[in-house]
Amino acid sequence: MLYYGADYNPEQWPEPVWSEDVALMRRAGVNLVSLGVFAWARLEPSEGEYRFDWLDRVMDLLHDNGIGVNLATPTASPPPWFSLAHPDALPVNRDGVRLVHGSRDTYCVSAPAYRTACDRIATQLARRYADHPALAMWHVHNEYGTWCYCDHTAVAFRDWLRRRYRELDALNDAWTTSFWSQGYGAWEQVLPPRATQYLPNPAHLLDYRRFLSDEMLGHFVRARDILRGFSRAPVTTNFAFGGWVPVNGWSWAKELDLIAIDCYPDAAGRGGRQQVAFAADLARSYASQGPDKWMVMEQAADMTMTADGHLARPAGELTRHTLAHVARGASGAMFFQWRASAGGAELWHAAMLPHAGPRSRVFREVCALGRTLRELPEVRGETHSEVAVIWDPESWWAMQAPGLPSPSLDYLDAVAPVHAALYRLGIACDCAPPTADLTGYRVVLVPGLYLVSDEAAANLNGYPGTLAVWYFSGLVDERVRVRPGGYPGAFRERLGVRVDQFAPQPPGVGWELSTGDTASTWRESVTLDGAVAVATHPDGTPAITRYGDSWYVSTRLSDPGLTRLLAGIVAAAGVSPPVPSLGGDVEVVRRGGSLFVINHGDHPVELPSAPGRTVPAGGFLTLPAY
Ligand code: GLA
Repeated sequence: MLYYGADYNPEQWPEPVWSEDVALMRRAGVNLVSLGVFAWARLEPSEGEYRFDWLDRVMDLLHDNGIGVNLATPTASPPPWFSLAHPDALPVNRDGVRLVHGSRDTYCVSAPAYRTACDRIATQLARRYADHPALAMWHVHNEYGTWCYCDHTAVAFRDWLRRRYRELDALNDAWTTSFWSQGYGAWEQVLPPRATQYLPNPAHLLDYRRFLSDEMLGHFVRARDILRGFSRAPVTTNFAFGGWVPVNGWSWAKELDLIAIDCYPDAAGRGGRQQVAFAADLARSYASQGPDKWMVMEQAADMTMTADGHLARPAGELTRHTLAHVARGASGAMFFQWRASAGGAELWHAAMLPHAGPRSRVFREVCALGRTLRELPEVRGETHSEVAVIWDPESWWAMQAPGLPSPSLDYLDAVAPVHAALYRLGIACDCAPPTADLTGYRVVLVPGLYLVSDEAAANLNGYPGTLAVWYFSGLVDERVRVRPGGYPGAFRERLGVRVDQFAPQPPGVGWELSTGDTASTWRESVTLDGAVAVATHPDGTPAITRYGDSWYVSTRLSDPGLTRLLAGIVAAAGVSPPVPSLGGDVEVVRRGGSLFVINHGDHPVELPSAPGRTVPAGGFLTLPAY
């Protein structure tokens, strides 16, 4: 059975609404809801005073109706009484401003009072609901990601640094503090990277991100262990995605019983579904490093909030996106939230049950999707990928430091187009950390891997299959210290090239390569050191090189050029899609014994007959538009 449901926030509604909720959930085929995510003030209206009667009734009601509960620890939104009693537990931003309650996530994860309060509420919930028959899993916190620069954080950061470096000299060395007179003479002099006068130290910034990830993971593990002390239900937390999220999914995956992601694509059409595919491949890959299972904890049933406003969702898209997740291995897909809020900060956020109520296009689609998921023959097994794309949060974080040679250098912007090109080709891929065992793959792709440790470099250089590396890779080690002797530092020998100079290009300037494809943004002066040029710039210098099974892409290719290049690379390595391309609008994914074919386009598509497939007379199966 695939999970299907949403965040359910009954505390926003009078009790008579709850029975209508549950009746409509049944109609929609909902079998799981995340409960209590933001209910701390309702559960503990003042310090140590608990109100569980209402939650008891909701849990019972859900259980009586066959709906499971993903019960949350409500720690992502401490109540006002908490912040007034413990102002030192409020987050301080990098400018030194202490934020106050009035929104959510107003806590410092390192503040002792916050930790104590979190332990207390988690213990109360675990004790009371561990044996409740509705309990299906635990949802710790919500979207870890709050940054803090306060004095508690400073203490915790120093402890973390002490564990990492032991000696202050080692820290001074790792941070290259000899530059700009930054040498630390005592641990107490080390602070979180608060606002400073000009460019900050990139190694300091990166260690702070690493620290935040570990510190938040520590918070998760504490809650998880409290819950495990009372209950055997799986424990998860929902990963947010974005450059602001200081969570390293690879290290977290090992601590979770189930990987859960929130997925809010912020582009329409093809861009949106490429983001869905990427999010799903990443989640499945995290799961493969830990608990094996993953699910979508949140997506939007209708308009999605983006940086540019709300993005409309065309009819049928939520079904197609949900099935794309399932095709890539999801154990289910949920939404934020069940019933659209009438007030509060997200009153215009979409929901399974919109403001208009059940007589609405969205609710009809939600019910149809519930039926589809219920009727889907059980999907077993996993997607099998022969291609891995290296994904490294540390390179992402390191590339966010100011002072890089071009403002156009962006990690996600290096990785996402490579993944999207595979998507266009219908080639399944996994994501993998740079130190993973890669021997099961035929092709490993390394876009924008700015930072590589010695261990990662040895792993990638020793990988026996086809390796393709993109520009701005292999340049610095884990201390953000340049690997000298020519770029791309760590990968020079494997790629058979040596670069002595970068030539960032102004925005909007493009040029044609010898292959006819367009390049832009970035150039390097590449000397061949064994490799041959397979594409050159207009002046005849190498742009893309090949050295046996190793490729180097030293410029930014347009999307069609990238797709053509990857088609050649994977074909040469003997990798092909599960069926020949059915056009850019048809997504084909194999999961175990099932083939998912999703038509995102506005025209019907004829599927070719294949051995073992049951197709109507005539040998064709027609997949309708959308
Ligand atoms: C996140 C949060 C939800 C909600 C949505 C809105 O995913 O977890 O509580 O705020 O964003 O998109």
